[in-house]
Amino acid sequence: MPTDAQRNLKTRKILFGSLLTLICIVLVYAALLRDRPWVVPEEVKRLKNPIATTESTLKPAKEIYTEECAQCHGEQGKGDGPEARLHFPAPADLTDTQRMKVVTDGEIFYQISEGREPMPSFKKRLTEDQRWELVILVRSFSARSAPPAAEKKPDAVGKTAAPAKD
Ligand code: HEC
Repeated sequence: MPTDAQRNLKTRKILFGSLLTLICIVLVYAALLRDRPWVVPEEVKRLKNPIATTESTLKPAKEIYTEECAQCHGEQGKGDGPEARLHFPAPADLTDTQRMKVVTDGEIFYQISEGREPMPSFKKRLTEDQRWELVILVRSFSARSAPPAAEKKPDAVGKTAAPAKD
């Protein structure tokens, strides 16, 4: 016959075991949630940004970013906004070149448009052009050394560089 003390010990062992199992499940779940890949349709992945990269597209994008994104993603896109710590998974570091060079413009456009808990969807709140401008801005965070192309003069649009014949 097991004594009370033995029975108590057994109960405690079982409780401790269950607690450990629970902790492991939570950790694995958290790890999976953090590394869950974005599933972006192939045709969206291949989309080209219809907006040209100029100072005039970056400026409005910067304003929208400060209003709508910086609280989570941080002013410089480092994922260190004041609200970042409240979220799980946390917003990624958008200045990480290694990470950003493997995602296409189409994928970033999709991420901004659709969102994913806890990031909201911006499909309804922003126009397509605004979202594409944000793609350029997001890109600029990981490409500090590559400034946006110089502003094109309106009269240069559509003209070729070839000298006119006389
Ligand atoms: C409420 C906080 C929040 C806001 C606001 C927010 N995001 Fe996010 N964003 C996140 C989180 C958290 C993730 C990671 C989601 C995941 O991996 O499941 C994310 C993911 C992303 C990603 C994909 C890279 C990554 O972190 O995995 C991009 C790009 C992005 N956000 C851009 C934006 C832009 C641009 C805006 C503003 C228009 C914005 N976000 C607004 C929280 C936010």
